[in-house]
Order: sequence, then C-alpha cells, then structure tokens
Amino acid sequence: MTLQGSEPIDVADIEVSLEDIIDRDALSELCRSTQALFGIGVRVFTSDGTLLGGAAPEHEVCAYVGTLPAARIACRSIVATVRTTAADDDVVHPCFTGQAYRISPIVFDGRNVGRVVIGPFGPHGMPDLPKSFTEVDGRLDVGRAKSLLATVPRVKVHTLDRIVEHFKLALDLILFSGHKAFVTSKMHLHSVRESYRELEEKTATLEQSYTRLKELDRLKSIFLATVSHELRTPLTSIIGYSELLTGGIGGELSPEHREYAETIHRNGEHLLGLISGLLDFSKLESGTFSLHAASLQIGPVLDDVVKTMRPSADKRKVRLELEIDDTPCELAADADRLRQVFLNLMENALKFTPDGGTVRVSSRVIEQADDDADVGAAILAPVRRAVEVRVSDTGIGIPEGERGRVFDPFYQVDSSATRKFGGTGLGLSIVRRIVEAHGGSVRVEGNVPTGAVFVVELPSAVAQRSATSQLPPPPK
Ligand SMILES: Nc1ncnc2c1ncn2[C@@H]1O[C@H](COP(=O)(O)OP(=O)(O)OP(=O)(O)O)[C@@H](O)[C@H]1O
Ligand SMILES: [Mg+2]
Repeated sequence: MTLQGSEPIDVADIEVSLEDIIDRDALSELCRSTQALFGIGVRVFTSDGTLLGGAAPEHEVCAYVGTLPAARIACRSIVATVRTTAADDDVVHPCFTGQAYRISPIVFDGRNVGRVVIGPFGPHGMPDLPKSFTEVDGRLDVGRAKSLLATVPRVKVHTLDRIVEHFKLALDLILFSGHKAFVTSKMHLHSVRESYRELEEKTATLEQSYTRLKELDRLKSIFLATVSHELRTPLTSIIGYSELLTGGIGGELSPEHREYAETIHRNGEHLLGLISGLLDFSKLESGTFSLHAASLQIGPVLDDVVKTMRPSADKRKVRLELEIDDTPCELAADADRLRQVFLNLMENALKFTPDGGTVRVSSRVIEQADDDADVGAAILAPVRRAVEVRVSDTGIGIPEGERGRVFDPFYQVDSSATRKFGGTGLGLSIVRRIVEAHGGSVRVEGNVPTGAVFVVELPSAVAQRSATSQLPPPPK
C-alpha cells in the first residue's frame, strides 16, 4: 500500500529511516554528554554510512598519527572501514595503534537502521606500543608514540558494554518520540492529500457537468430562437390575412364570418406576443441581444407606455395614474427596451388587478449609496444618481415567499391548469435581464392594503459611466 492510495493509511506500512525520525539536536546532546562522561568519542551513522551526529575530539595519539604520511593513510583506511561496516551484532574493529572501535547496530521496529561507533578507545590490556604501530611508518618517534599511548584511557569490555547499553537506551527514547511525530505528520499529510484528491475528482466532475449544462443551455437557446423565428413567419400572414378579411378588403363578410376572422386576428396577435417573448428570452439567454443606448429622460418613455395601455385599462375600468418627477436625470438607455420593460410590468399590473382597481406608475430621482466604498471614500465619492420607477397595483398581490422566484423564467405563482390568467411566465425574466443590462435592478414589494409594487432602479448616464470605468480590465 502506498501513501498516495485512497485507502486509510496503516501505521505499520510507513517505512522509516533513521534520518526521518531522529532529532538531530537531541542526538548531538546525547553524544556530547556521553563523550564528556566517559571520555570516549561517539558517532551515529545511517545504514549507508552517512554521519548523523557525534562528539569525538581528536586524541593526541591520533593527532600525532596525522603528522606521519604513511600512518595517516593507514588511519584513513581504518576510519573508512569502520564507517561502512554493516554490523548485525556488536563488533570491535582494531586500529594499528592498539586502540579499537566498537560498532553496534541500531535496531528500530525490528529493522537495522544504522549504527553507533564508539572509539577510538584503549581496550583493557592494550600493549604499551604494539608492533603494528612501530611498523606503520618509518618516521615514527617510538618514544613519543609510547608516551602518548600511555594517556589513552583503557576500558574494560564490561564497562564498554554498559556504555553502549546506556547510549542505546537513551537513543531509543529519542527515536521513539521522533517516530511518533513522523508518523503523525505522515498521517496528516496522507489525509490532506486524500482530501485534495477527492476535491480534485469532485472539481473535475463538476467541470464536466458545467460544460455539459452550458452546451445544453446553448442548444436550448438555439432551439428556442429557431422555433420562434419559424413560427413567426407563417403567423404574420395569418394575422395579415385575417386583418384584410375583417377590413372587408376581400369582400363583404357576414357578421358571423367577421366575428370568426376577428377571433383569428386577436388570437394570432396573442400568439405573436408569446412568440416574440420567447424569441427575446432566447436572445437574452444566448447573449445575442444588443442594446442601442442613447441619451434619454424616463418621462416620455413612461408617458408613451401609459398611453398604449390606457384603452385596455379603460375597458376594464381600471384607473391608470402617472406621476413623473420633473427633476431631469439623463439616462443612457435603449428606449425600445425600456418601453418593453414597463409594458410588461403594466400588462402584469392590469392582468392581476380586478376591474375597478388602480394601477399607478410613478418616477423619481434618487441618490444611491455606494455600498462598496468605505466611510472616508463614501464622503468624497461623487453622488450616484438613479431613476426609480414604481409600478403599483391594487390587485391580487404576490405572497412574500414567492417574490424571489417570479423573475425566474417560466415561473408563475399559480401554475395550475385552472389558472385564469394567460401568459408564459417569461415577462418578468425578460424585464430583469433588460434592466440589469442597463446596470439597474428590479425588485417586487407588497402594496398596502393589497397588490404588488415593482420597483425598477436605473442608474443615471454619469453613474453608469463611472461604474463601468471602475470595472477591472477585461481578461486578455
Ligand atoms: N402585478 C402582479 N400581481 C400579481 N402577481 C404578479 C404580478 N406580476 C407578476 N405576477 C406573478 O408573477 C408571475 C410571472 O410574471 P411574468 O410576467 O413573468 O409571467 P406571465 O405574466 O405569467 O406571462 P407573460 O408575461 O410571459 O405573458 C405571474 O404569472 C404572476 O403569478
Ligand atoms: Mg407578464
């Protein structure tokens, strides 16, 4: 099992090396205190001979050996052998000076992970000047060598065993706590990697779904646009010919036939309205919808919309009120699209208001607070002006819980088959998209005592320009 695997990690599977788990500072301290206590050098090596730590000041004999060329070479060869000797059991390696090194394996978790080298020391019973020493280099000063050797501490085997045992016990403690920290960090790393991997998998799945949904959405918009367009062409001739018939251009009609032709014409117009809505919606969805912004005041737009709606309102005895704030406020907007927004809102207001009710359209110029600016910046920032238009009615109103959803495409508060009001549920979603394309916002509130109020806020041309200039540069 690997650490990268998706299964839970098993502590026993974590292979450790001496370098991974040893605390170097604690090891140096242990070597220093052992050397200071017993006067013998100690070094710790990994199983491949890398020195991890130690304390072994050079003895005078060794310093003297270092001054004799042939002896120096022999000394180096011994040191190299000691360093690389892999020992499964304690071994003693002799030096030509008569001194020796004790090599003892470090076993952790049942595995040989390195070794402790103690020495050089004088073994108990070491001769005053062994023959191997006198023969190693022709330039050897025998007297000096002998007197220096006499100062080397002699250690009995039993004592050395105790020193090694003491050292390894202390080393075990260091390894144990190091191992604990190592395993904990490995497990932590494993779980982080695991979470990261899961996250990556989920992100990839989400990305795939997102791409697929985007593609479906695009296909849906293309489908809607094509269907709407194809339906509109034959419908235009249905409307046109039914109009000709009702106008008597194709010959005088009986009252009954005229009524049929009028019904065809009326329903054709209604269908055209629905199809135009679908077409607009699909254009807005696919981003192929364009605004032709020009400088304008809101007053004439609202005036025009109210005039258009007045005949239907009169027919239903609904009072239509218009109140426009005279304060001039220049908008940079597409007049046709704004007309479409307020026609939609007024059509709704009329549709959902019983006969004899009131629909009121009012506009005023407001100053908007910059939510993003901090206190200081807000004081210095230019005031952002906007036009607020309220379309209110005294109709059935929209329950509070539904107000957030009425702007969703195809959403209708009562979608039952017995619903008495017509429509596709696209009007408000088109309204919201057009208003947002102008940098504005739309929301719905409740009217008192009954009815709905749609509030549209459109930023002034100046505010719109400054908002656009604050946008980050488009990605390259
Ligand atoms: N003034 C209003 N009073 C009460 N309910 C409203 C009002 N305006 C909208 N609604 C509710 O919000 C729904 C969505 O309105 P929207 O204009 O999007 O669709 P629609 O009028 O049903 O159809 P369409 O506008 O596409 O012909 C409506 O069906 C209605 O339930
Ligand atoms: Mg509508």
